[in-house]
Amino acid sequence: MQTAPRIESPPHAANATPLLEVADLRTWFQTDAGPAKAVDGISFAIGRGKTLAIVGESGCGKTVTALSILQLIPQPPGEFVSGEIRLEGRNLLAVSPAELRKVRGGSVAMIFQEPGTSLNPVFTIGDQIGEAIRLHRGLPPAEVRGEIVRSLNAVHVSDPERRLAQYPHELSGGMKQRVMIATALSCNPKLLIADEPTTAVDVTIQARILDLLRQIQAERGMSILLITHDLGVVAELADDVAVMYAGKIVERAAVGELFDHPRHPYTLGLFGSLPRVDQKQGRLKAIEGSVPAATQFPAGCRFRERCRWAAPECAQEPPLAELTPGHFVACWKAGEIEPPVEVA
Ligand SMILES: Nc1ncnc2c1ncn2[C@@H]1O[C@H](COP(=O)(O)OP(=O)(O)O)[C@@H](O)[C@H]1O
Ligand code: SF4
Ligand SMILES: [Mg+2]
Repeated sequence: MQTAPRIESPPHAANATPLLEVADLRTWFQTDAGPAKAVDGISFAIGRGKTLAIVGESGCGKTVTALSILQLIPQPPGEFVSGEIRLEGRNLLAVSPAELRKVRGGSVAMIFQEPGTSLNPVFTIGDQIGEAIRLHRGLPPAEVRGEIVRSLNAVHVSDPERRLAQYPHELSGGMKQRVMIATALSCNPKLLIADEPTTAVDVTIQARILDLLRQIQAERGMSILLITHDLGVVAELADDVAVMYAGKIVERAAVGELFDHPRHPYTLGLFGSLPRVDQKQGRLKAIEGSVPAATQFPAGCRFRERCRWAAPECAQEPPLAELTPGHFVACWKAGEIEPPVEVA
Protein backbone atom coordinates (compact mmCIF):
# COMPACT_ATOMS: atom_id res chain seq x y z
CA MET A 1 0.00 0.00 0.00
CA GLN A 2 1.28 3.40 -0.90
CA THR A 3 1.49 6.00 1.80
CA ALA A 4 0.97 9.65 1.12
CA PRO A 5 4.25 11.56 0.87
CA ARG A 6 5.07 13.30 4.12
CA ILE A 7 5.24 17.04 3.86
CA GLU A 8 8.12 18.32 5.91
CA SER A 9 7.48 21.56 7.68
CA PRO A 10 10.36 23.99 7.40
CA PRO A 11 12.44 24.48 10.53
CA HIS A 12 10.99 27.08 12.92
CA ALA A 13 7.77 27.05 10.90
CA ALA A 14 5.98 29.05 13.60
CA ASN A 15 8.34 31.98 13.07
CA ALA A 16 8.73 31.49 9.35
CA THR A 17 6.23 34.22 8.40
CA PRO A 18 8.29 37.31 7.71
CA LEU A 19 7.39 40.38 9.74
CA LEU A 20 6.58 42.33 6.59
CA GLU A 21 5.64 41.00 3.18
CA VAL A 22 5.01 43.31 0.25
CA ALA A 23 3.45 41.55 -2.73
CA ASP A 24 2.99 43.06 -6.20
CA LEU A 25 2.60 46.59 -4.83
CA ARG A 26 1.68 49.29 -7.34
CA THR A 27 1.46 52.88 -6.11
CA TRP A 28 0.61 55.25 -8.94
CA PHE A 29 -0.18 58.97 -9.06
CA GLN A 30 -2.70 60.41 -11.46
CA THR A 31 -1.13 63.40 -13.25
CA ASP A 32 -1.99 65.56 -16.25
CA ALA A 33 0.67 63.63 -18.17
CA GLY A 34 -0.98 60.28 -17.34
CA PRO A 35 -0.31 57.85 -14.49
CA ALA A 36 3.06 58.24 -12.74
CA LYS A 37 3.94 54.61 -11.99
CA ALA A 38 6.20 55.47 -9.04
CA VAL A 39 6.03 51.94 -7.62
CA ASP A 40 5.03 49.41 -10.20
CA GLY A 41 4.73 45.80 -9.07
CA ILE A 42 7.33 45.22 -6.37
CA SER A 43 7.56 42.31 -3.94
CA PHE A 44 9.87 41.80 -0.97
CA ALA A 45 9.88 40.51 2.59
CA ILE A 46 11.67 41.47 5.79
CA GLY A 47 12.30 38.86 8.46
CA ARG A 48 12.08 39.55 12.19
CA GLY A 49 15.19 41.30 13.43
CA LYS A 50 16.49 41.68 9.87
CA THR A 51 17.42 44.72 7.81
CA LEU A 52 16.51 45.16 4.16
CA ALA A 53 18.25 48.01 2.35
CA ILE A 54 16.67 49.58 -0.72
CA VAL A 55 19.12 51.36 -3.00
CA GLY A 56 18.74 53.21 -6.28
CA GLU A 57 19.07 56.67 -7.77
CA SER A 58 16.74 59.55 -6.93
CA GLY A 59 13.31 59.12 -8.44
CA CYS A 60 13.34 55.31 -8.51
CA GLY A 61 10.43 54.95 -6.07
CA LYS A 62 12.18 54.28 -2.75
CA THR A 63 10.37 56.92 -0.70
CA VAL A 64 7.01 56.10 -2.28
CA THR A 65 7.63 52.46 -1.29
CA ALA A 66 8.37 53.51 2.32
CA LEU A 67 5.36 55.84 2.51
CA SER A 68 3.10 53.20 0.97
CA ILE A 69 3.71 50.82 3.87
CA LEU A 70 2.13 53.29 6.28
CA GLN A 71 -0.22 54.66 3.61
CA LEU A 72 1.18 58.13 4.02
CA ILE A 73 0.45 58.69 0.33
CA PRO A 74 -2.10 61.42 -0.45
CA GLN A 75 -5.07 59.79 -2.20
CA PRO A 76 -5.76 61.33 -4.70
CA PRO A 77 -3.51 61.84 -6.61
CA GLY A 78 -1.96 58.62 -5.23
CA GLU A 79 -3.66 55.27 -5.68
CA PHE A 80 -2.83 51.72 -4.62
CA VAL A 81 -3.44 50.01 -7.94
CA SER A 82 -2.52 46.51 -6.82
CA GLY A 83 -0.86 44.50 -4.13
CA GLU A 84 -0.81 43.61 -0.47
CA ILE A 85 1.31 44.89 2.41
CA ARG A 86 1.16 42.20 5.09
CA LEU A 87 2.43 43.00 8.59
CA GLU A 88 2.50 39.76 10.59
CA GLY A 89 0.15 38.34 8.00
CA ARG A 90 -2.40 41.19 8.15
CA ASN A 91 -2.93 43.20 4.97
CA LEU A 92 -2.48 46.86 5.94
CA LEU A 93 -4.17 47.98 2.72
CA ALA A 94 -7.39 46.42 4.00
CA VAL A 95 -7.47 47.46 7.69
CA SER A 96 -9.71 50.20 9.11
CA PRO A 97 -8.39 53.77 9.51
CA ALA A 98 -8.45 53.29 13.31
CA GLU A 99 -6.28 50.15 13.10
CA LEU A 100 -3.93 51.90 10.73
CA ARG A 101 -3.46 54.76 13.21
CA LYS A 102 -2.43 52.20 15.83
CA VAL A 103 0.14 50.71 13.45
CA ARG A 104 1.64 54.11 12.54
CA GLY A 105 4.15 55.09 15.18
CA GLY A 106 3.17 51.95 17.11
CA SER A 107 4.30 48.67 15.57
CA VAL A 108 5.75 50.51 12.57
CA ALA A 109 7.71 53.75 13.01
CA MET A 110 9.42 55.89 10.42
CA ILE A 111 12.41 58.24 10.46
CA PHE A 112 13.17 60.64 7.66
CA GLN A 113 16.19 62.28 6.10
CA GLU A 114 15.24 65.70 7.38
CA PRO A 115 14.32 65.68 11.07
CA GLY A 116 12.81 69.15 10.66
CA THR A 117 9.93 67.63 8.72
CA SER A 118 8.89 65.26 11.49
CA LEU A 119 9.48 67.40 14.60
CA ASN A 120 6.82 69.99 15.29
CA PRO A 121 8.46 73.39 15.94
CA VAL A 122 5.77 74.55 18.40
CA PHE A 123 6.02 71.63 20.84
CA THR A 124 8.81 70.80 23.25
CA ILE A 125 10.82 67.61 22.89
CA GLY A 126 9.09 66.20 25.97
CA ASP A 127 5.65 66.92 24.53
CA GLN A 128 6.45 65.24 21.20
CA ILE A 129 7.86 62.04 22.62
CA GLY A 130 5.22 62.03 25.37
CA GLU A 131 2.45 62.32 22.79
CA ALA A 132 3.75 59.26 20.94
CA ILE A 133 3.97 57.28 24.19
CA ARG A 134 0.50 58.32 25.39
CA LEU A 135 -1.08 57.56 22.03
CA HIS A 136 0.41 54.13 21.50
CA ARG A 137 1.18 52.73 24.91
CA GLY A 138 -1.62 54.16 27.02
CA LEU A 139 0.66 54.73 30.03
CA PRO A 140 -0.70 56.71 32.99
CA PRO A 141 0.56 60.34 32.92
CA ALA A 142 2.75 59.76 35.97
CA GLU A 143 4.80 57.17 34.08
CA VAL A 144 5.09 59.04 30.80
CA ARG A 145 7.88 61.36 31.94
CA GLY A 146 10.07 58.48 33.06
CA GLU A 147 9.53 56.78 29.71
CA ILE A 148 10.49 59.93 27.81
CA VAL A 149 13.75 60.15 29.77
CA ARG A 150 14.39 56.45 29.11
CA SER A 151 13.80 57.00 25.37
CA LEU A 152 16.26 59.90 25.27
CA ASN A 153 18.79 57.92 27.28
CA ALA A 154 18.47 55.04 24.81
CA VAL A 155 19.69 57.31 22.00
CA HIS A 156 22.44 58.77 24.23
CA VAL A 157 21.02 62.27 24.49
CA SER A 158 22.99 64.05 27.19
CA ASP A 159 21.10 65.66 30.05
CA PRO A 160 17.67 64.34 29.01
CA GLU A 161 15.84 66.08 31.86
CA ARG A 162 16.88 69.47 30.48
CA ARG A 163 16.08 68.49 26.86
CA LEU A 164 12.46 67.79 27.73
CA ALA A 165 11.69 71.50 27.96
CA GLN A 166 13.57 72.46 24.79
CA TYR A 167 12.09 73.20 21.37
CA PRO A 168 13.44 71.65 18.14
CA HIS A 169 15.11 74.92 17.02
CA GLU A 170 17.27 74.86 20.17
CA LEU A 171 18.90 71.59 19.13
CA SER A 172 21.75 70.86 16.71
CA GLY A 173 21.07 68.79 13.58
CA GLY A 174 22.53 65.64 15.09
CA MET A 175 20.55 66.10 18.29
CA LYS A 176 17.31 66.63 16.32
CA GLN A 177 18.02 63.43 14.45
CA ARG A 178 18.40 61.56 17.74
CA VAL A 179 15.22 63.04 19.17
CA MET A 180 13.39 61.93 16.03
CA ILE A 181 14.83 58.45 16.46
CA ALA A 182 13.90 58.49 20.17
CA THR A 183 10.32 59.40 19.24
CA ALA A 184 10.19 56.64 16.64
CA LEU A 185 11.65 54.06 19.02
CA SER A 186 9.69 55.12 22.13
CA CYS A 187 6.83 52.78 21.24
CA ASN A 188 9.05 49.76 20.65
CA PRO A 189 8.22 49.35 16.95
CA LYS A 190 8.57 45.94 15.36
CA LEU A 191 9.58 47.63 12.13
CA LEU A 192 11.57 50.83 11.74
CA ILE A 193 11.46 52.45 8.32
CA ALA A 194 14.49 54.71 7.88
CA ASP A 195 14.49 56.84 4.71
CA GLU A 196 18.03 58.18 4.23
CA PRO A 197 18.37 58.71 7.99
CA THR A 198 21.97 59.90 7.95
CA THR A 199 22.14 61.96 4.77
CA ALA A 200 21.75 65.31 6.55
CA VAL A 201 24.28 64.72 9.34
CA ASP A 202 28.08 64.70 9.37
CA VAL A 203 30.17 61.55 9.26
CA THR A 204 30.85 61.28 13.01
CA ILE A 205 27.19 61.63 13.92
CA GLN A 206 26.27 59.26 11.12
CA ALA A 207 28.55 56.59 12.59
CA ARG A 208 27.00 57.09 16.04
CA ILE A 209 23.47 56.90 14.72
CA LEU A 210 24.26 53.69 12.85
CA ASP A 211 25.82 52.17 15.96
CA LEU A 212 22.75 53.15 17.86
CA LEU A 213 20.38 51.56 15.36
CA ARG A 214 22.45 48.38 15.36
CA GLN A 215 22.50 48.25 19.16
CA ILE A 216 18.77 48.86 19.54
CA GLN A 217 18.03 46.35 16.81
CA ALA A 218 20.12 43.72 18.61
CA GLU A 219 18.45 44.47 21.96
CA ARG A 220 14.89 44.49 20.71
CA GLY A 221 14.94 42.24 17.64
CA MET A 222 13.49 45.08 15.58
CA SER A 223 13.34 44.82 11.78
CA ILE A 224 14.56 47.73 9.66
CA LEU A 225 13.71 48.90 6.16
CA LEU A 226 16.66 51.12 5.29
CA ILE A 227 16.79 53.47 2.34
CA THR A 228 20.23 54.86 1.65
CA HIS A 229 22.63 56.07 -1.02
CA ASP A 230 25.58 54.92 0.98
CA LEU A 231 27.03 51.52 0.15
CA GLY A 232 29.14 51.61 3.32
CA VAL A 233 25.93 51.88 5.36
CA VAL A 234 24.38 49.05 3.34
CA ALA A 235 27.40 46.84 3.99
CA GLU A 236 27.33 47.61 7.72
CA LEU A 237 23.64 47.29 8.45
CA ALA A 238 21.81 45.29 5.79
CA ASP A 239 21.11 41.57 5.67
CA ASP A 240 19.41 41.81 2.28
CA VAL A 241 19.44 44.40 -0.48
CA ALA A 242 16.84 45.34 -3.10
CA VAL A 243 17.98 47.53 -6.00
CA MET A 244 15.19 49.69 -7.41
CA TYR A 245 15.04 51.22 -10.85
CA ALA A 246 12.09 53.09 -12.36
CA GLY A 247 9.48 51.74 -9.96
CA LYS A 248 10.68 48.13 -10.03
CA ILE A 249 13.05 45.92 -8.09
CA VAL A 250 15.67 44.89 -10.64
CA GLU A 251 17.92 42.86 -8.33
CA ARG A 252 17.53 41.39 -4.87
CA ALA A 253 19.93 39.23 -2.83
CA ALA A 254 21.64 38.80 0.52
CA VAL A 255 24.12 41.62 1.06
CA GLY A 256 27.31 39.54 0.69
CA GLU A 257 26.03 37.87 -2.46
CA LEU A 258 25.02 41.19 -4.01
CA PHE A 259 28.37 42.83 -3.28
CA ASP A 260 30.32 39.81 -4.45
CA HIS A 261 28.21 38.91 -7.49
CA PRO A 262 26.19 41.88 -8.73
CA ARG A 263 24.50 40.87 -11.99
CA HIS A 264 22.12 43.56 -13.15
CA PRO A 265 23.75 46.18 -15.42
CA TYR A 266 22.10 48.88 -13.29
CA THR A 267 23.60 47.50 -10.08
CA LEU A 268 26.98 47.26 -11.77
CA GLY A 269 26.63 50.88 -12.81
CA LEU A 270 25.72 52.01 -9.27
CA PHE A 271 28.67 50.13 -7.82
CA GLY A 272 30.97 51.78 -10.36
CA SER A 273 32.61 48.46 -11.18
CA LEU A 274 32.86 45.25 -9.28
CA PRO A 275 32.99 46.24 -5.61
CA ARG A 276 35.27 44.11 -3.51
CA VAL A 277 34.32 42.80 -0.11
CA ASP A 278 37.02 44.95 1.46
CA GLN A 279 35.82 48.04 -0.40
CA LYS A 280 32.25 48.34 0.76
CA GLN A 281 32.59 52.06 1.12
CA GLY A 282 31.44 55.05 -0.79
CA ARG A 283 28.27 56.36 -2.30
CA LEU A 284 26.47 55.05 -5.31
CA LYS A 285 28.20 56.02 -8.53
CA ALA A 286 26.68 58.25 -11.17
CA ILE A 287 25.50 56.46 -14.29
CA GLU A 288 25.28 58.26 -17.60
CA GLY A 289 21.77 59.42 -18.43
CA SER A 290 18.94 59.77 -15.93
CA VAL A 291 15.93 57.96 -14.53
CA PRO A 292 12.96 58.60 -16.83
CA ALA A 293 9.96 60.45 -15.36
CA ALA A 294 7.50 58.05 -13.77
CA THR A 295 4.92 59.00 -16.44
CA GLN A 296 7.31 58.02 -19.22
CA PHE A 297 8.84 54.66 -18.48
CA PRO A 298 9.77 52.93 -21.74
CA ALA A 299 8.15 49.63 -22.70
CA GLY A 300 10.27 46.53 -22.21
CA CYS A 301 13.27 46.79 -19.90
CA ARG A 302 13.08 50.24 -18.31
CA PHE A 303 16.88 50.48 -18.14
CA ARG A 304 17.23 49.81 -21.87
CA GLU A 305 18.13 53.35 -22.96
CA ARG A 306 21.03 53.49 -20.49
CA CYS A 307 22.25 49.93 -20.79
CA ARG A 308 25.36 49.04 -22.73
CA TRP A 309 24.23 45.39 -22.98
CA ALA A 310 20.82 46.26 -24.48
CA ALA A 311 19.76 43.82 -27.20
CA PRO A 312 16.61 43.35 -29.31
CA GLU A 313 15.05 41.00 -26.71
CA CYS A 314 15.17 43.84 -24.19
CA ALA A 315 12.10 45.30 -25.91
CA GLN A 316 10.24 42.71 -23.78
CA GLU A 317 10.08 43.27 -20.06
CA PRO A 318 12.45 40.89 -18.22
CA PRO A 319 10.91 39.09 -15.21
CA LEU A 320 12.63 39.14 -11.80
CA ALA A 321 14.03 35.61 -11.96
CA GLU A 322 16.03 33.58 -9.45
CA LEU A 323 19.48 33.25 -10.98
CA THR A 324 21.06 31.40 -8.06
CA PRO A 325 19.26 30.48 -4.81
CA GLY A 326 18.04 33.67 -3.17
CA HIS A 327 19.52 35.93 -5.86
CA PHE A 328 16.89 37.51 -8.12
CA VAL A 329 17.69 39.54 -11.24
CA ALA A 330 15.43 41.17 -13.85
CA CYS A 331 17.67 41.15 -16.92
CA TRP A 332 17.66 38.98 -20.03
CA LYS A 333 21.45 39.00 -20.05
CA ALA A 334 22.06 38.39 -16.35
CA GLY A 335 23.39 34.88 -16.94
CA GLU A 336 25.90 36.16 -19.50
CA ILE A 337 27.28 39.14 -17.59
CA GLU A 338 30.12 37.55 -15.71
CA PRO A 339 31.78 39.94 -13.30
CA PRO A 340 34.32 41.34 -13.06
CA VAL A 341 33.49 43.75 -15.84
CA GLU A 342 34.83 47.23 -16.39
CA VAL A 343 32.03 49.77 -16.14
CA ALA A 344 33.25 53.05 -17.52
N1 LIG B 1 2.62 63.17 -5.49
C1 LIG B 1 3.23 62.75 -6.61
N2 LIG B 1 2.71 63.01 -7.82
C2 LIG B 1 3.31 62.59 -8.96
N3 LIG B 1 4.47 61.90 -8.99
C3 LIG B 1 5.04 61.62 -7.81
C4 LIG B 1 4.48 62.01 -6.55
N4 LIG B 1 5.29 61.60 -5.55
C5 LIG B 1 6.32 60.96 -6.16
N5 LIG B 1 6.17 60.98 -7.50
C6 LIG B 1 7.09 60.41 -8.50
O1 LIG B 1 7.39 59.09 -8.14
C7 LIG B 1 8.73 58.76 -8.51
C8 LIG B 1 9.44 58.15 -7.33
O2 LIG B 1 9.65 59.12 -6.32
P1 LIG B 1 10.38 58.78 -4.95
O3 LIG B 1 9.79 57.57 -4.36
O4 LIG B 1 10.34 60.01 -4.13
O5 LIG B 1 11.86 58.48 -5.42
P2 LIG B 1 13.16 58.19 -4.53
O6 LIG B 1 12.80 58.20 -3.10
O7 LIG B 1 13.67 56.87 -5.01
O8 LIG B 1 14.12 59.29 -4.87
C9 LIG B 1 9.35 60.06 -9.01
O9 LIG B 1 9.33 60.03 -10.43
C10 LIG B 1 8.44 61.10 -8.47
O10 LIG B 1 8.42 62.24 -9.32
S1 SF4 C 1 17.28 43.41 -19.95
FE1 SF4 C 1 18.59 44.21 -21.57
S2 SF4 C 1 18.45 46.45 -21.39
FE2 SF4 C 1 17.67 45.57 -19.50
S3 SF4 C 1 19.39 45.57 -18.14
FE3 SF4 C 1 19.35 43.56 -19.12
S4 SF4 C 1 20.66 43.74 -20.94
FE4 SF4 C 1 20.22 45.82 -20.20
MG1 LIG D 1 13.49 59.43 -1.52
